[in-house]
Amino acid sequence: MLGTLLGTTIELRPFTLDDVPAAHAVYSDPEVMRWVGRGAVSTPAATEGMLRQYIAHQDAHGFAFWAVVDRTSGRVIGDAGLARTIEGEVEMGYTLGRRWWGGGRATEAAGLWLDAAFRQLDIPRLRALVEAPNLGSRHVLEKLGFRQDGSTIAFDRVHLVYRLSRTTYAPKADRSDGLT
Ligand SMILES: CC(C)(COP(=O)(O)OP(=O)(O)OC[C@H]1O[C@@H](n2cnc3c(N)ncnc32)[C@H](O)[C@@H]1OP(=O)(O)O)[C@@H](O)C(=O)NCCC(=O)NCCS
Repeated sequence: MLGTLLGTTIELRPFTLDDVPAAHAVYSDPEVMRWVGRGAVSTPAATEGMLRQYIAHQDAHGFAFWAVVDRTSGRVIGDAGLARTIEGEVEMGYTLGRRWWGGGRATEAAGLWLDAAFRQLDIPRLRALVEAPNLGSRHVLEKLGFRQDGSTIAFDRVHLVYRLSRTTYAPKADRSDGLT
């Protein structure tokens, strides 16, 4: 079973229902949720419903959207994780509270999931969906080696599809391009 994923500034662990208040602080912010799902989540009960789905997904598949915990403060600052799609692919996503943007945490969280997916969970390929104007998220994906591969409709909006295969994945320590 996949254990806590430990990074430099953050750690990732499965959500519990104790995380509802911290998660709701993130999911209820319209600016954070501008490009996520159906936008800001209006009630703590709705956030609890999302966390229950993540917990059920974890039980079913051994991975899910997990809590991103700031290692200095111990606070839950957002989510990052993997979800199985109805087409049978595995999709990566991440959402962080606004005050934690711009510090490399999304790149760190996504990198931890890439290592887990390709080296521990034996997932052959990941996809990620992102709307074209969400340049920060696209940059995170591109830094990690994802490449654009068409587009699709999700939540009634056009999304770019990015994909990365285990065979083309170059973990940070193995990269020769100097990217972090
Ligand atoms: C997208 C998001 C996860 C990025 O988190 P983050 O911790 O700020 O990301 P990082 O710091 O690891 O990396 C962001 C990179 O994009 C760059 N970037 C950010 N905004 C940008 C913009 N508007 N245009 C171009 N580049 C941008 C940053 O400079 C950084 O690149 P660098 O490391 O080369 O300097 C965060 O903004 C977020 O949670 N947004 C709301 C939820 C969301 O949109 N999730 C993704 C849905 S697809």
